[in-house]
Amino acid sequence: MARISYDDATAAAFKAVREIPRAGLEEWREAVGRHLRPAPGMTLVDIGAGTGAFSSAFSDWFGLRVLAVEPSAAMRCHIPQTPSIQTLAGDACALPLADASADAAWLSLVIHHIPDLELAAREIRRVLRPGAPVLIRQAYPDRYEPSGPLKPDGIETWRWFPETARMAATFPSLETTCAAFAAAGFHREALAQVRDSRSTSLADLAVRVDTLRRADTTMRSLSDDEFEQGKERLRRAMRQAAATGAPEPRGNLLDLLVLR
Ligand SMILES: C[S@@+](CC[C@H](N)C(=O)[O-])C[C@H]1O[C@@H](n2cnc3c(N)ncnc32)[C@H](O)[C@@H]1O
Repeated sequence: MARISYDDATAAAFKAVREIPRAGLEEWREAVGRHLRPAPGMTLVDIGAGTGAFSSAFSDWFGLRVLAVEPSAAMRCHIPQTPSIQTLAGDACALPLADASADAAWLSLVIHHIPDLELAAREIRRVLRPGAPVLIRQAYPDRYEPSGPLKPDGIETWRWFPETARMAATFPSLETTCAAFAAAGFHREALAQVRDSRSTSLADLAVRVDTLRRADTTMRSLSDDEFEQGKERLRRAMRQAAATGAPEPRGNLLDLLVLR
């Protein structure tokens, strides 16, 4: 059971405001390529594929065959239908795949929705061939502690709506995640900070922020007052950017955890 219901309206909102345009994913292309070492004929399982933004990026960038596993029918409807992407109804804890049938697993912003991460890790171990990597794109709360290497304002929603960190603090930590996967036989191979970006301005975020509130688990947790205060923060930053002629950069710095 996900933390929010990915129903038709949420799926449409996610598609409209959460997908990062391909041009903003260049650092992810480089980082994933480095750790995945893609080769012709490789099969990647995209678990919790959502609207398929990464499934289609991986098939376009690397020529992979992608199995896009997604529990929500509303999200699945948005996954591009192409010969290299096979969309499957399924859950991380019960993958609709044969044993040792995939060469890599990808989970982007999914692990906080998985009710039993150890069970999911065992399931991923079952469907991957020996030596195949698991790549996880995620914001781990323990990485954003005051003494930690990442700054909360590196995540756009946390920057303008800092109370979203309250919900994010309940997400699996890096330590918990590594322990769950270690119990299934994976070891931590790499951890890298990777940036995504958007070329649009804060004004674009401001006009879409009501839709974003519907599409984002942490934004949903805000009270109306917290949401209004965040909108005011955004408006102030827009006025300042206009006055100084220095637009605010947009995007997020997240972790890529590689397990093998
Ligand atoms: C924040 S979205 C991320 C979508 C996509 N991975 C991306 O980064 O664009 C989270 C997705 O995880 C899916 N999900 C929720 N619970 C899941 C589970 N137990 N197993 C697999 N996917 C799940 C949701 O339906 C939703 O599509």
